[in-house]
This record gives sequence, C-alpha cells and structure tokens, in this order.
Amino acid sequence: MFRHIRWRLLATYLIVVSAALVFLGVHLGRQFEAALGVDVRDPASLQAQVRHVRWVIAWAVLVALGISAAVGILLARSIAGPVQEMQRVAGDLAAGRFQERVPVRTRDELGDLARSLNDMADELERLDASRRAFVADASHELRTPVANLVVAVEALKAALDRDPGLATALAEDLERETHRLRELVEHLLDLSQVEAGGLALSIEPLTVASLIERSLEPFRVRADASRLSLEVRIPRGVPSIRADPVRAVRVLANLLDNAVKFTPPGGRVTVAAAERGSAVEVSVADTGPGIPGAETAQIFDRFYRVDKARARSRGGAGLGLAIARRLAEAQGGTITVRNREEGGAVFTVTFPRYG
Ligand SMILES: Nc1ncnc2c1ncn2[C@@H]1O[C@H](COP(=O)(O)OP(=O)(O)OP(=O)(O)O)[C@@H](O)[C@H]1O
Ligand SMILES: [Mg+2]
Repeated sequence: MFRHIRWRLLATYLIVVSAALVFLGVHLGRQFEAALGVDVRDPASLQAQVRHVRWVIAWAVLVALGISAAVGILLARSIAGPVQEMQRVAGDLAAGRFQERVPVRTRDELGDLARSLNDMADELERLDASRRAFVADASHELRTPVANLVVAVEALKAALDRDPGLATALAEDLERETHRLRELVEHLLDLSQVEAGGLALSIEPLTVASLIERSLEPFRVRADASRLSLEVRIPRGVPSIRADPVRAVRVLANLLDNAVKFTPPGGRVTVAAAERGSAVEVSVADTGPGIPGAETAQIFDRFYRVDKARARSRGGAGLGLAIARRLAEAQGGTITVRNREEGGAVFTVTFPRYG
C-alpha cells in the first residue's frame, strides 16, 4: 500500500517540477534573450524586466499548484475507489453473501489486497457450501431412523395385547433402529469434532500388536456370527508407532466394521502390519466385493456410499471412512484403498514409527 502511494507521489512531484521548469524555461529564456539587449543603466528597463520575471514566477507557481491539485484528486480517486469497493465486498462477506468478489484492476499492492480478499471469499464460499451439505445430509440421515422408530413404536403399542410374538419382533426392530441412531449420532459428533480441528490428541508409543488386538476384540462375535475368519499377521521386529491409542483404534475399528459388514459369510478378513521406512502400515484386507475403481477416492467423502441401498440396509451412513481418514491424518498418517486381484478390498493405514 505505502509503496503504491510513494510511487504516485513521486510521479506527481516530478510532473509538477518539470511543468514548472518548462514553464519558467520557456518564459525566462525569451526574457533573457530580451535581457541581453537591455541597457542596465536604464532603471525603467530593469524594473520592467524584474516585473516580468515576477509575473512569470507567479504564473509558474499557479500552474504548478493547479497541476498538483489535479494530480492529487486523481490519485485520491484511484486509491479510494478500490478501497471502497473492498470495503463493500468485506461487508457483503460479513453478512453471509459469499459470492461477492472485488474486480482486480492493478498489479500493485491494492491489486494484491483485492486478490487476497477474493481468495478469502472463495474459501468462505467453499466452507459454507460444505457446511450446508453436511447439515442437509445429516438431517436426511437422521430422519430415516427416527421415522422408523415412530412407526415401530406405534405398531408395538397396537400389537402389545393382541400379538405378543409380533410385539417381540417389533421391540427388536426398535432396538436395532435405536442402536443405529446412536451410532449415527456418535459418528456425527466424531466428524464434527475432527472437522472443527479441535481434536486434542494424546500421542504416545503404541505396539502394533496391542493396537490390532484392541481394535479386533469387539468384532470377534460379529465375525463368528457371519462365519468370517479373522486373521492377524504381524511379522517379528515391526516397530512401535506414535499414535493416540483411542483414535488409532477408532481408525482400525471403522475399517474392520466395513470389512465385517460387506464381506459375505464364509469370507476372510486379514489384518497385517509391515514396516515402511519411517512409517508402519497396518492393512485390513477382506474377501468381499471390493470397491469399484472409479469410486476409490469418493468413498472417503462423508455420506458417500457405493451402493446406497445396500449400505443403508446394513445401517451405514457413509461416515466411517471420512472419520477414519481425518483421524489418521490428524495423527500424521495416511489411509488408502486398493482392490485385490483375487477380489476384495485392502485398506492401508500408516502411522509414524516410534523412535
Ligand atoms: N471393505 C469394503 N468392501 C466393500 N465396500 C466398502 C468397504 N468399505 C467401504 N466400502 C464402501 O464405501 C462406503 C463408505 O464406507 P463408510 O465406512 O464411510 O460408510 P458406511 O460403512 O456405509 O457407513 P458408516 O461407516 O457410517 O456406518 C460404504 O458404504 C461401501 O459402499
Ligand atoms: Mg463404515
């Protein structure tokens, strides 16, 4: 900003000085020519010369003042115009009108400022769109189980006296929906916490064996019920990792939940670890349907499900992988997916190695 003003002031100064010099030069030049023929012994002629020089100087000053006033006005307008425009756009952004932008007309500091303001407006617009999508998706996902609960409760009330068998079945439906609702709300809370960036991690050394064991434990019964075999492969000498134990378990639990959910009965889920330079990777491979190639990036977006009907019938909202990726990244790791040639998906998480 100051460089901008300094250059303009210098330009103004040069214009004014050169205009005054040209003016004086032209007039005094002629005058000096005339002065050469002046008889210095003639006081009247000398006085006339002095008067003329005074007159020229007075005009020169007036012209210089006129030019500097005109340049000053132009200069003030050229700065005030863009600043007012930026002020207006900043006001619009503050009022939530994120589509407003400032025209960028110059390549100086004012132009840089306008560009920065536009970049900020882009980011605000993106965040606003993502917030709206989040709220819309979350309310849509909550509406379904809540509607199911209402229907199940009504049916249960009606069946209580007449049909105890039906009442038991409805109570079980109710329990399942309540469980689903609770999971969804927990997932939403997790996600909003990681997305807000206010996650307080407690990073410490953790052995891969204990991470895998703690993550697998809650899935053993479900895997048995679906006739899935669970395998663990941890080669000797795999180093410990640096992670927040609770969040690292949450990452793996989300991957295991999917593997167990999407792998048909009789299949296998394998959890393996390997050292990779300064990181340690833990993978979860299954013998399920795998992920269609074109969708391997999108499945990490919140609320994204490959087959919405199939995923919903299994109770998923499409949040598990979005949470897992953000939690892995918050711990300095990554999470990727690929399909196995023999069928099934392999999700790989990396954690920084300890020491
Ligand atoms: N192991 C897997 N095998 C096949 N498809 C998978 C697997 N893991 C994830 N997917 C696909 O990726 C989608 C997104 O997974 P994500 O875990 O985010 O959501 P979800 O499991 O459907 O719901 P939630 O995790 O919120 O309960 C799933 O709906 C499914 O279509
Ligand atoms: Mg999931």
